[in-house]
Amino acid sequence: MESTARAPGRVNLIGEHTDYNGGLCLPIAIPAGTTAHARPRPDGRYRVSSTMPGAEPWEGSLDDAAPGRIDGWAAYAAGTLWALRELDVAVPALEIAVDADVPPGSGLSSSASLEAAVAVAATVGRVPLDVLVSACRLAENDVVGAPTGGLDQTAVLHARVGHALLVDFANGDEPAISEVAFDPADAGLDLVVIDTRVRHAHADGGYGDRRAECERAAHILQARPLGALTTGELASRDTGAQHLDGVARRRARHVVREVERVRDAVDTLAHHDWAAFGLLMTASHHSLRDDFEVSCDELDVAVDAALAAGALGARMTGGGFGGCAIALVPRDHTPRLRRAISGAFAARTWQRPDFRRGSPAAGARLISGDDQVR
Ligand code: GLA
Repeated sequence: MESTARAPGRVNLIGEHTDYNGGLCLPIAIPAGTTAHARPRPDGRYRVSSTMPGAEPWEGSLDDAAPGRIDGWAAYAAGTLWALRELDVAVPALEIAVDADVPPGSGLSSSASLEAAVAVAATVGRVPLDVLVSACRLAENDVVGAPTGGLDQTAVLHARVGHALLVDFANGDEPAISEVAFDPADAGLDLVVIDTRVRHAHADGGYGDRRAECERAAHILQARPLGALTTGELASRDTGAQHLDGVARRRARHVVREVERVRDAVDTLAHHDWAAFGLLMTASHHSLRDDFEVSCDELDVAVDAALAAGALGARMTGGGFGGCAIALVPRDHTPRLRRAISGAFAARTWQRPDFRRGSPAAGARLISGDDQVR
């Protein structure tokens, strides 16, 4: 049966680099995303193609899509089909065509969006979301080779319109998910997504280095996971024979405080205290800049310009090393904020940043192809 699926990109509101540390994240899905159309093939082979510039079509068997045998964009798409089979989900021979409007490497989870659209289209919406999350993660970690946590795949598959997801990774691969109402528009606010146009890839070194540094800190502190520590516990363990070196201390401090900030952020949303929510966003950015060291000049300038133009809070979102920042701003300040950031970039002869609105959108879903459209 032919089927079409749509999966969103995501913006993480707060809770960065906490997923693989057993901590908390607070993502929303965004309207931009990926559409995948799947059509059965009679010859037992698989083909994936994309309208993305430079994306070569790929054709082969599922064995040809195994780790180490495929690379480039097709590793995400065909790798997801391979991963589904690894998890005992039968995937018939298919031809899959994808079209995406979330730019690769922009920190908006273009990869999880692609994986999820392929997974939902290939399984015609008949496989539980948890299994799809696992398949998408397997493709990302093992086939693409990016050592990421589960934030992105969980967000794009489970998201609900008008809500953020509080995702608790205390149980590692089986996160606990709860929905938190998130409607800045109702409070007269815009969540502006600022694309610095600086591109990154998490299969490159920086992300893996941070993961290894966190593991080292967790090992020294005998804290498994690191994200389960309170700031008090961190201080009391980081002494004597167990004490951390400077780098490990900064990484651990970010993770532990960031988890506490997520908890506080959920609290502020419950009380509609957007000003306090904004302050937590900015504190998160400063921690990612100074302690976790995953920001870059373009993200810092975007955040500082946003705050100077009246944002309640601003921060980088996603893994860092480029990509997007987000700013929470009273709606009538939005044009000024965009001008301020564009001006700051132009003054440094950087590429023109791109802006979009981050309204909380629905998770991945089947658009056509089954009686039971989710
Ligand atoms: C990337 C990864 C996620 C997460 C974030 C940082 O988006 O894919 O697993 O670690 O970075 O919060």
